Amino acid sequence: MPLTGLESKDLKMIIFGGKGGVGKTSCAVACAIGLAENFKTLVISTDPAHSVSDSLEQEIGFRLQPVHKVANLTAIEISADEAFKEFKKEHRTELVKLFDTSTNFDEEDIQQMMSLSIPGIDEVMSFKTIIDLIEENNYEKYVVDTAPTGHALRLLSSPILLDEWIRMAAKMRWKYRYMIESFSGEYKEDEADVMLLNLKKTVKRIAALLGNSEKSEFIPVCIPEDMAIMETERLLAELRNFKITSRQLILNNVMESDESGFCRQRKAAQLKYIVKVHDRFKNLQVVIVPLFPDEIKGVTALKRLKEVLFDENRELNRDAI
Ligand SMILES: Nc1ncnc2c1ncn2[C@@H]1O[C@H](COP(=O)(O)OP(=O)(O)OP(=O)(O)O)[C@@H](O)[C@H]1O
Ligand SMILES: [Mg+2]
Repeated sequence: MPLTGLESKDLKMIIFGGKGGVGKTSCAVACAIGLAENFKTLVISTDPAHSVSDSLEQEIGFRLQPVHKVANLTAIEISADEAFKEFKKEHRTELVKLFDTSTNFDEEDIQQMMSLSIPGIDEVMSFKTIIDLIEENNYEKYVVDTAPTGHALRLLSSPILLDEWIRMAAKMRWKYRYMIESFSGEYKEDEADVMLLNLKKTVKRIAALLGNSEKSEFIPVCIPEDMAIMETERLLAELRNFKITSRQLILNNVMESDESGFCRQRKAAQLKYIVKVHDRFKNLQVVIVPLFPDEIKGVTALKRLKEVLFDENRELNRDAI
């Protein structure tokens, strides 16, 4: 089976995730290269390790970069730190106002508060950057590469975290608003209220996109090993909690050759896990990707992986398994 349904007009965001080292970045970038043949595509890395640069052998970083040797493909590696810094710079007045009017903080406390990191803010800012990019609507497909499971789950839970933060801030504001109203009889919305309202809208937009199975899809990447399968099961259970859709799974590093005794042994060892994957993830289509003789690095190698991911005749080639 090749990857299916990704050409669907409504499908905007495709997220790749899974255990460490199973091939998420390689598959995400190869998939983006495949989609770029027909769609204007943006590949987004949310992994602080920023391996998209390594995979493409091209320095990407936190700005939109056309990918060399691939028409229609742009890449960006989101820096949560930078995104948070930009957010603070852009909303400095509103944030100071929020702390100033809602707390007993003095100027020094506020300065300190502004320089502190808020738990979970990294992922929130990463996701805010993704949703902003999607809403700018300059691309037809957005392929997201994530860091290993835990980080990806924090990323996906970021709307919930941000929502909690907004609720707490809004509560403090209500007290302030009540005070103003009691003294002066009327309260006019200020820039801090507008910022909170806009953040709330961002949360709603993220949740709406993630929860819409027509618009977004999560593709777990797994390898034929027990620990990877167990982690994928946990990941999929969490995704269901977040109401995120998965339709297909990539089973990577599958041994196809039986040229040597070693290959035959590895292939035999993998077989029970391949069967287990089909059995455990019955509701998902399994896309088998062979273990390549070399690591997948650079556009030429990634294009070879792309061929496998989108190969309509793949099922026929699988006789070997
Ligand atoms: N099918 C394959 N055949 C051979 N090598 C592969 C295959 N898939 C991935 N690799 C290699 O395995 C290594 C890990 O792949 P990759 O970086 O894509 O994994 P990852 O899941 O993104 O890792 P991380 O969890 O660190 O982000 C890389 O060196 C890549 O070239
Ligand atoms: Mg990676």
